[in-house]
Amino acid sequence: MGEPHVVTLRATRDGDLDALFTIEQDEAAVQMAAFTPPDPSDRAMFDAHWRRLLADPAIDARTVRADGEIVGSVARWYEDGTAEITYWIDRPHWGRHIATRAVRLFLDALHERPVRVRVAADNVASIAVLEKLGFRRVGRERSYANAREAEIEELIYRLD
Ligand SMILES: CC(C)(COP(=O)(O)OP(=O)(O)OC[C@H]1O[C@@H](n2cnc3c(N)ncnc32)[C@H](O)[C@@H]1OP(=O)(O)O)[C@@H](O)C(=O)NCCC(=O)NCCS
Repeated sequence: MGEPHVVTLRATRDGDLDALFTIEQDEAAVQMAAFTPPDPSDRAMFDAHWRRLLADPAIDARTVRADGEIVGSVARWYEDGTAEITYWIDRPHWGRHIATRAVRLFLDALHERPVRVRVAADNVASIAVLEKLGFRRVGRERSYANAREAEIEELIYRLD
């Protein structure tokens, strides 16, 4: 499986949630992301969370599609008035440069700067994506990560 021909973003809709829930069940991905809900397999919590996101005009949640297939998500919200983003790509599609393309598309359409990302210090693939897109590391802190059931080091990246 090489790189997809077309990577697109569309506003996340209710009909995408089954696919996004399935994508976010992968244990390796959950461990990598680290800062996940306490129980990623709790569908009621997932639905309640997404109902809040989709109803909040300050949150921009996009579904990532590769050649028409739902393969992940990118979202922006505000933390202390600063835009923060996160992203997730379905494991069978890792390494196809989909995250890099999807986040680049998202940032191209996002007029605010700076943009901040928090990432587990050992999430080398996510850090590689951020560095390719011009983010620089501006801080580090220790935070509790549900998936690791421990406090871990988190890096803060910023795009100005
Ligand atoms: C992080 C994530 C989004 C990357 O998605 P992806 O589509 O595979 O990313 P891309 O293919 O665009 O780029 C990944 C880069 O990481 C590199 N990479 C992957 N694993 C690596 C490793 N173990 N060591 C070093 N680099 C690594 C790849 O080589 C690639 O860089 P390149 O383009 O220079 O070759 C995906 O793994 C994911 O969704 N993980 C679970 C959720 C998560 O961690 N989200 C981020 C929260 S901050």
